[in-house]
Amino acid sequence: MVFQPIPKKYYELSEIELYERIRGVKQTLGERLVILGHHYQRDEVIQFADFRGDSLRLSQLAAGQPNADYIVFCGVHFMAETADILSAPHQKVCLPDLNAGCHMADMADLDSVEDSWEELTEVCGESIVPITYINSAADLKAFCGAHGGVVCTSSNAPSIMGWAFTQKEKVFFFPDEHLGRNTGVKHGIPVEEMILWDPQLDLGGHTPEEIENARIFLWKGNCPVHQLFTVNQIHRIRKQIPDIQVIVHPECRREVVELADIDGSTAFIIRTIEAAPAGSKWAVGTELHLVRRLAKEHPDKLIISVDPNMCLCTTMNRIDVPHVAWTLENLLDDEVVNHIVVTEEDAKWAKIALDRMLDLSN
Ligand code: 13P
Ligand code: SF4
Repeated sequence: MVFQPIPKKYYELSEIELYERIRGVKQTLGERLVILGHHYQRDEVIQFADFRGDSLRLSQLAAGQPNADYIVFCGVHFMAETADILSAPHQKVCLPDLNAGCHMADMADLDSVEDSWEELTEVCGESIVPITYINSAADLKAFCGAHGGVVCTSSNAPSIMGWAFTQKEKVFFFPDEHLGRNTGVKHGIPVEEMILWDPQLDLGGHTPEEIENARIFLWKGNCPVHQLFTVNQIHRIRKQIPDIQVIVHPECRREVVELADIDGSTAFIIRTIEAAPAGSKWAVGTELHLVRRLAKEHPDKLIISVDPNMCLCTTMNRIDVPHVAWTLENLLDDEVVNHIVVTEEDAKWAKIALDRMLDLSN
């Protein structure tokens, strides 16, 4: 990964000039360019996305753009890697700012996952399926592909885990402990049969007996954005607005999901609020840009954040209009800045785990 500095001039241009330049490149490149954007992206950027979606939809979209030479990803690094793996070899994927990482994805690395797998399989033998949340580096997806495992997103985690339990008795889920636990509960697995795996400790911090008795091993990782929502915030909101409904993302802590009226992926949250009757009231536990956008798009409903003071995905929002303009203008000269390339070996195995997920999501 080569960090290229963005020329200062892009920060000296006015917003209107930047918008004009972006529109100009889009018009010139036509179908050769596709811009994908995640729902958590800021409004000034997402307005230029040809398609927007959650992680599942964006991976399906990345796999289905045969006419595009360039895919510009206004999301985070793991999403751009996924797009590179799923797109055709001649297509080039770029991430306008390489600082747009994911704190959760950074909480698991291949060495630690391999060490943990060795420890787990020494105790449990061949009885485990690895599942990586899509919010992970490409080499972890490759690990899953090579070990009979699969990728999941928050949209399909319940069905993917269901599939995993048809294959083996136990699941090793990384890197989000909360999504793993919330999904396990949906499968009727008691929380005592899900153990938190701390990769810093021998045997994840457990005895061999505890490991033998567990059904799910939950990697000690989380999303610092969704983990911030608390039960006290929900209690406070319900006291102020008794008839409000609380909807949260399954990356939230178990106790928050339990207290909420309903939980589901980003796409599920959007669909649910879109379908709700006028006059309904919602407190939403997910990234703030999306919550604010929903509130703007549905003025006939009351839509507030469970925590209005923070909960921004600051890394995703590193991608700003100057970076998008700079990335696009370089493409006019076939200069691919911030080109995201997954090694051939990782791509081969990661694609197996991703295709398995896509097949199971149809
Ligand atoms: P989804 O887009 O799958 O809901 O995931 C949320 C998220 O944290 C994206 O990184
Ligand atoms: Fe990662 Fe959380 Fe941001 Fe999603 S919201 S990209 S999980 S840090």
